[in-house]
Amino acid sequence: MNMADHLIRTSMIVALGAGTSLLPSLSRGDDQPPVDQGTLNALAVDAPEVAFLAAFEAGDELTEMVFTTARGVGANVREGQRFTRFPRADLDGPGEWANHQPPREGGPQAQSCISCHALPYANGAGGVELNVAIDPLQTGDPRSYLERNTAPLFSLGAIQRVAEEMTTELQAQEAALAERACTGRAPIVVPLTAKGVGFGTLSATPEIDGEACTPRIDRSKVAGVNEDLVVRAFGWKGTHPTIRSFARDAANNEMGLQADELVGATDGDHDGYVSELTVGDLTALTIYMAALERPTSMTELAALGLVELSPMERSLIAAGEARFHEVGCAGCHKPEMLIEDPVFTEPSLHPAFAEPVLPSGATAAELGLSPETAIRFDLTADLPNNRVVLPDGRVAELGAYETDAQGRAVVRRYSDFRRHEMGQELADPVDAYGIGASVWPTRGLAGVGSTGPWLHDGRATTLDEAILAHGGEAAASRDRYAALSDVGRAQVVSFLANLVIVDLDPEDEEH
Ligand code: HEC
Ligand code: HEC
Repeated sequence: MNMADHLIRTSMIVALGAGTSLLPSLSRGDDQPPVDQGTLNALAVDAPEVAFLAAFEAGDELTEMVFTTARGVGANVREGQRFTRFPRADLDGPGEWANHQPPREGGPQAQSCISCHALPYANGAGGVELNVAIDPLQTGDPRSYLERNTAPLFSLGAIQRVAEEMTTELQAQEAALAERACTGRAPIVVPLTAKGVGFGTLSATPEIDGEACTPRIDRSKVAGVNEDLVVRAFGWKGTHPTIRSFARDAANNEMGLQADELVGATDGDHDGYVSELTVGDLTALTIYMAALERPTSMTELAALGLVELSPMERSLIAAGEARFHEVGCAGCHKPEMLIEDPVFTEPSLHPAFAEPVLPSGATAAELGLSPETAIRFDLTADLPNNRVVLPDGRVAELGAYETDAQGRAVVRRYSDFRRHEMGQELADPVDAYGIGASVWPTRGLAGVGSTGPWLHDGRATTLDEAILAHGGEAAASRDRYAALSDVGRAQVVSFLANLVIVDLDPEDEEH
């Protein structure tokens, strides 16, 4: 960080913390004071870049912070018990676990985000010992609990932008179809596609009554996405469209931090505390995770002279990439997608991703969340992490996305952003979200060489096992992989192991 940046950051932290107590904090670590959305909004108008950096910095502190009861962490699991690693639908007395609002899925069981999101370094994935058991249907029956492995938080902004643009494309196709059915006065069927990925078909029948025509849309053949055509990329199950909505639920379920925008002024978890997470806190958390460094690859680092790869390693990786395509992995794990407009904004400018009314019932406007004061940054230019000085003195912006000739961001996520039937072996014990117990969105493979164990419940201790566990729509591809020679399989695994997440900021050592 250069001196100017440093000064800007320091002054912003002071600005954000204005009005809080000057007494020394009695809790562990340096606590980030609650972030005020109004302060961020004022900055967003006067100095947009500073607003972005201030939100990023505050989000960094919030993900690391060990929350205490001073901020209302935890919940009234039952009298005298604040945390639980098991869902406790059996505790249904007044104010107990089963009577919290909104209804709990699990926990609370942690005091900081990065206590789970830890591998290979802060904000990453988690080992099986940190798996989370959830009981969204509140059955109280361990046979119905869902097991989840911690997913990494890097560069989530690109994922949300891809989902937003795909949703725009799909919804435009629905609108055009409705119009054509009435102008043509005949039923029509169109394939739905977004960024080259198919999502089934939509059909429309004009219902004609004299001069009036109403198109009747049939959504029964839509595939891989909800009928509202909103691409939900977050969570192993693809339950959440935005970083913000996932983070809001994570804070409540994992840590017992009930956000203002979740419950308003009520004490939904009956722990004696209200206002446990501000609107500004969630904006900061969102911006931080959105703008974290993107995963890279050993081959990319080697091309820049930052690591060495032997000729043997290079040829294994290259052969593995070819095999990955040959056996059909790339059909779902789509290597590359382009983002037309690489500017991420919070709140989102997409109507299906901006929440006009928050879960608490307050409107976005009332809470100070408006497009006019949105915090924005460019995924191809502004990312603060992994700015690396190369051996020849040039600076490589390795946290940011590459652009193509038209200025579009090139995102190598290895996902098609749609759901697939993956077979009984990978099914949850119950269909808790109405998506299908064995239906999962294609997990992106970016960074997969630095995470593990793999799959939604962390059952795969090696990449080979993760691949062999595929079933359902992936069965044919899995069989072709299984039929490869030992060398062929090792090549595919080397290719996946090449997809890494690395922290290239020497400064981080100091933290
Ligand atoms: C107790 C462990 C634990 C803690 C603490 C925790 N998380 Fe997570 N996190 C998980 C698990 C497990 C998943 C996968 C959940 C799923 O898919 O249903 C996850 C997934 C996520 C995702 C979705 C990532 C993706 O690609 O789909 C986000 C965003 C997230 N967490 C943010 C946070 C934030 C912010 C905090 C702190 C307020 C936090 N988490 C605290 C365990 C944890
Ligand atoms: C039909 C779509 C589909 C095909 C084809 C497919 N996958 Fe997957 N893949 C998925 C889904 C969905 C998941 C997440 C499943 C889960 O967690 O239960 C996944 C998960 C993975 C994971 C684990 C990721 C993680 O972070 O835990 C790896 C590794 C993987 N796939 C590699 C491959 C390889 C290699 C191939 C080709 C042999 C392949 N996949 C073919 C859909 C597919």
